[in-house]
Amino acid sequence: MGGLPDRASWQTIQGNAHGLSRSHGAPRVCCNLTELHPPCSTVSLSSLSDSHATARLAGLLDSAMDAIITVDAAQTIVLYNRAAGRIFGWPAKEVLGQPMALLLPERFRDGHHRHISQFASTGVTSRRMGDGTVIHGRRADGSEFPLEASISQLHTDDGPLFTVILRDVTERVRAQEELSAFAAQANTIREQEKTRVARELHDELAQSLTALKMDAIWLRDHLPTGLPDMASKLDDMLAMLDASVAATRRIAADLRPLMLDDLGLVAAIEWLAQNFTQRTKVPCQLQMDDALELHEPYATAVFRIVQESLANVAKHANASTVVVQLDRTPGRVAVAVRDNGAGFDTEAARPAASLGLLGVRERAQLLKGHATITSAPGEGTTVSAELPVRESGDAA
Ligand SMILES: Nc1ncnc2c1ncn2[C@@H]1O[C@H](COP(=O)(O)OP(=O)(O)OP(=O)(O)O)[C@@H](O)[C@H]1O
Ligand SMILES: [Mg+2]
Repeated sequence: MGGLPDRASWQTIQGNAHGLSRSHGAPRVCCNLTELHPPCSTVSLSSLSDSHATARLAGLLDSAMDAIITVDAAQTIVLYNRAAGRIFGWPAKEVLGQPMALLLPERFRDGHHRHISQFASTGVTSRRMGDGTVIHGRRADGSEFPLEASISQLHTDDGPLFTVILRDVTERVRAQEELSAFAAQANTIREQEKTRVARELHDELAQSLTALKMDAIWLRDHLPTGLPDMASKLDDMLAMLDASVAATRRIAADLRPLMLDDLGLVAAIEWLAQNFTQRTKVPCQLQMDDALELHEPYATAVFRIVQESLANVAKHANASTVVVQLDRTPGRVAVAVRDNGAGFDTEAARPAASLGLLGVRERAQLLKGHATITSAPGEGTTVSAELPVRESGDAA
C-alpha cells in the first residue's frame, strides 16, 4: 500500500467502503461522503496517485471480518465498513455523520469520549482499548454486547482521524462464562466426593479396624499361657491394626478434614498449622478471630488455599517462620500466608508439573475473587487471596 493514505485518498476509501459510482466516465466516490460530518465533496479517483491500491484498500475494509469505524476530532463517524453494519445492526447511511456515542451504551459514553480525547493527547499511534478488559457496544435494537477494540490515530491536514477496529466477542465471553461455571461445578462435585470418601473412611473403615483391634486385644488378654508364638503374632496384628487405623484417619483427613464441616474453618486451619509444624518443626503463627465463621463454598476455598500455601512452604521455602492471616469483614474474606524463606522469581516460567499455585488462583477466580503471589529470591513468599462473600441469605 506504500504508507498511509493522505486525506483525499482516505475519504475515497471511506466512500469506497460503501461503494463507488462512475460519473462522466471517471470513477467517483459516491453516496456517504456527502453525509460526512463535516460534509466533504466527492473526490475523483483520477486525482489519486494509486487508484488501484486505494480501491483494493476499500475492498479490504469491506471484506474485513472486524468492524472498522473511523471518527473525526469531534468523534463523528466518518467511516463505517460492512462488518460494522453487521455487528451493530445499523445501516451505514444511518450512522455516518452521527456521533460515535450512538454505538455505545449510555453509561459508557462519557468515559469513551474521554478515552479518545486522552488517546489523542498521548501521540501514540495505536493501542488496545479497555486495558485488556472487555468493553461493550450497543446494537441498533438497544441490546448490548461485549467487544474487543483497538484504536489508532492518523493526523491529516484537516485534523486527526481515529480508527477503531472492533470484534464482537459475545461467543467467546459466553464460552468463558460457561467454562468457568463448569469448572466451579466440577470443583464442587470433587469436594463433595472427597467429603463422602473421607467420611466413609473415617466412619466405616476406621471404626471397623478399631473394633478388630479391640477383639485382638481381648484375644491376647485371654490367651492361655504357654503359647508365646501366638502371643507374638497377636502383638504383630495389634501393631498392624494401629498403623492401619492411623493411616485411614490420615488419608481421610488429607482428602478433607471432617472438622471443616463439623467444627468450622478456624478449627480446620488450626489443625493444618499444627500438622505443618509437627512435620517441618517450623512455627506457624495464626492471626485470625476465633469466632470467625465462613460458609461454603468460601470455607473450603480458604482452607485449600492455606493448605496449598503451607505445603509449598514445607516443600520449597526452607523458612524459619510462617504467618497465616485471616480477615473477615462483611461481604469479604482475605487470607494471606507469609513465609520468610527462599522466595522465588514469580516471572520465571512455571514448571509444567507445578499446579499448586495455579489451583490457588483458579479457586479465587471461581468465586469471583483474586489471588496474588508476591515473592522474590531471598525475600520470602506471600500468597494472598481476597474473595467477595455472598452472605447466606443474600440474593444470588
Ligand atoms: N513458599 C514458597 N517458597 C519458595 N518457592 C515457592 C513457594 N511457593 C511456590 N514456590 C515456587 O513456585 C513453584 C510453583 O509452585 P506450585 O505450588 O505451583 O507447584 P509445586 O509446589 O512445584 O507443585 P504442586 O503444587 O503441583 O505439587 C514451585 O515449584 C517453587 O519453585
Ligand atoms: Mg505446590
